Amino acid sequence: MAEVSHTALTQVPGGTYDLIVLANRLPVDHAVDENGRPCRRRSPGGLVTALHPIMKRRSGAWIGWHGRPGPAPAPFVHDGIHLHPIALTGDEVDGYYEGQSNGTIWPLYHDAVEQPQFHRVWQDRYRAVNRRFAEAAARVAAPGALVWVHDYHLQLVPGMLRELRPDLRIGFFLHIPFPPVELFCQMPMREEIMRGLLGADLVGFQHPQATRNFRTLAADLLGAKVTDRGIWYDGRDVAADTFPISIDVAEQQRLALDPAVRARAAEIRRELGDPRTIVLAVDRLDYTKGIECRLRAYEELLSERRLDPAQTVLVQVAVPTRQQIDQYQALRERVERAVSRINGEYAGIGRLSVHYVHQSFDRAELAALYLAADVMAVTPLRDGMNLVAKEYVATRTDGTGALVLSEFAGAAAELEEAWQVNPHDIDGLKDGIADAAEADVAEQRRRMDPMRAHLHAHDVNRWATGFMGRLDRLSRRWPRSAAA
Ligand code: ADP
Ligand code: F6P
Repeated sequence: MAEVSHTALTQVPGGTYDLIVLANRLPVDHAVDENGRPCRRRSPGGLVTALHPIMKRRSGAWIGWHGRPGPAPAPFVHDGIHLHPIALTGDEVDGYYEGQSNGTIWPLYHDAVEQPQFHRVWQDRYRAVNRRFAEAAARVAAPGALVWVHDYHLQLVPGMLRELRPDLRIGFFLHIPFPPVELFCQMPMREEIMRGLLGADLVGFQHPQATRNFRTLAADLLGAKVTDRGIWYDGRDVAADTFPISIDVAEQQRLALDPAVRARAAEIRRELGDPRTIVLAVDRLDYTKGIECRLRAYEELLSERRLDPAQTVLVQVAVPTRQQIDQYQALRERVERAVSRINGEYAGIGRLSVHYVHQSFDRAELAALYLAADVMAVTPLRDGMNLVAKEYVATRTDGTGALVLSEFAGAAAELEEAWQVNPHDIDGLKDGIADAAEADVAEQRRRMDPMRAHLHAHDVNRWATGFMGRLDRLSRRWPRSAAA
């Protein structure tokens, strides 16, 4: 069951903020529960997972869309965070969110694993909505405030906001990959997007390759002077660097040690028929996540009896996402066909080979699933980071469990001891899953211990303080008056 909240809405008092986060989505969506009562539901995706605990600890405002077309609710407080909803019309949801953000930029930035679509009306709506976000931030930012803009939906905001409020310190962080020159240059708005990003004082990426791509594009497309110190453009210095995002490791560990969660994990194993091997996959139902390659590899492993169909279960949790977009609907049909084909072939009466769940879960239930799983299969074709992989590792407090991880996930640069695989290479992927399933406890711990140690030293708090601290230091080095 997804996390829902019915706590009374507290209105935000008027005033301004020293810290503002801008992201397409607020951390909670307005929704309706199973009894038809209005409620707030945690928004999907890694961005919210990472930023929510940070913003709970600091007093600041979060500006974002509340998840439905139509007028925006009044600003309200949730979990101690001041939320300022932005209204989007139905046309804007089509053009800015489903269109330019998720029909153009998302596939283009993920190696064009699906064909990006380019439409001028989408671009116009993207500009209009980015301006609305910039204006909303300009209204509520205190003098000299720190404004942190997030992700590919809002790439024009830093430039727009700088024009409106040159006194602000502006950071931008991209949660998804930033593509190489050959791909980025397909984008009709390419110079405009680069100028938008360079409106920030600090631009952050998940992976060093993304940072290199950005620096190259700044020089090639805009003629910016790129040095070790930064990017000199339009009379200002802009820093670009790598800040790999992470999770709230302490909170994940707390969940993992909670007796109720541990009991639920044991119950899940029983409900699945106590098989020898439980393989788990948890993704938004997105074509970047490599779900089809994973199902193909699993099917062949069952067919070749490298995994025993009577003793193996795959649990595929597929979080509903972007369901209005054709490519996502087509993916869902293909995945559901593959799941029923595998079950038709290898399941028995009262025993499934693939448990497919197209639902959101609360964090305790997810943690129980992580604890129940012998093998976690994270096989994206391209992913900015992938927090699910980190959550699995953080949950395995006794060092058992086996992570199979795509080398095309940003997390692969940090979780080096995982069974790393190329998801396009089905034979290699099969070997990775089979080896992970066969590993003994000593081998599991040999791999898990260093990954757990890495995560303890690199949690989400370090990510956030690293980014904000850098932004703070830069603005002291480059005084506002020079930028204004
Ligand atoms: P992305 O941002 O592309 O969705 P990530 O793996 O980085 O991918 O982040 C996904 C986040 O969503 C994780 O924090 C994960 O726990 C959460 N999540 C995944 N599946 C579910 C689910 N079924 N219900 C609720 N949250 C989920
Ligand atoms: O970083 C991945 C991401 O796109 C986030 O920006 C977003 O919040 C999340 O996935 C979920 O996607 P959506 O907001 O389109 O449901």
